[in-house]
Amino acid sequence: MKERLQKILAQAGICSRRAAEELIRAGQVTVDGKVVTEMGLKVDLKTQKITAKGQPVGFSEKKMYVLLNKPEGYVTTLSDPQGRPIVTELLKKVPERLFPVGRLDFDTKGALILTNDGDLAQRVQHPSFEVNKTYVARVTGKPSAAQLTRLEEGLEVDGHLTAPATLKLRKSSPKESVFEITIHEGRKRQVRNMFSAIGHEVTELTRISYGNLHLGSLKPGKFRFLSKSDIARIFTKEKKSPPARGRGKAKGTPPATKKRKNSGK
Ligand code: URA
Repeated sequence: MKERLQKILAQAGICSRRAAEELIRAGQVTVDGKVVTEMGLKVDLKTQKITAKGQPVGFSEKKMYVLLNKPEGYVTTLSDPQGRPIVTELLKKVPERLFPVGRLDFDTKGALILTNDGDLAQRVQHPSFEVNKTYVARVTGKPSAAQLTRLEEGLEVDGHLTAPATLKLRKSSPKESVFEITIHEGRKRQVRNMFSAIGHEVTELTRISYGNLHLGSLKPGKFRFLSKSDIARIFTKEKKSPPARGRGKAKGTPPATKKRKNSGK
């Protein structure tokens, strides 16, 4: 059956559909020996020969999903011009070629899903599904209640208004504070840039969950396979508990209740 080239590349576990479009645009994909840069060409993997980055593309029926505890010092791309370690090097025992769902910075650690299921990767990242991601952020100093309200309500970062965030204070001293922050957007360095925009730098960042799928006790550098019920948890929202600062740890305004006008997407 004929399918769009970028869909075939994603289903074959080469990369996400978005990254496949970039590969095609960059002239790194061939069909029957010819470079294809046209978007949306329909091809049949059973009868046509496709290569991506010089490698033959084969269809894998077996969908696989893993949750990795990414250590700091790894990139989440499939190759790195600077020769830095790549997350897939931690999955040598996995028989299928998997790609990361979304990204984590080189210096961010924690939960990273990898799969060869392009459709799932798209759903997790598509803004309409609003998959929550929760991070533990260690930041410099002690943000004021007014600054935290700005983070909760949405603030301008790189010309975009961020969607509302949920914050829980884990601990705080004049020197540094530790927050749990939940957001559903996934712009580059989003959490770091959000805290930076209120004048507090993130010194350590760990993603601890996607929706209701938690990293739990998985050790850094280790992974586990995900079951169907694990996958369903990604799309299940956590029950909200009141923010810690609302329970009297940090004095100030009550948590944000205002509606945001601009979605920023
Ligand atoms: N926000 C960041 O700043 N970095 C990440 O890696 C993920 C979210």
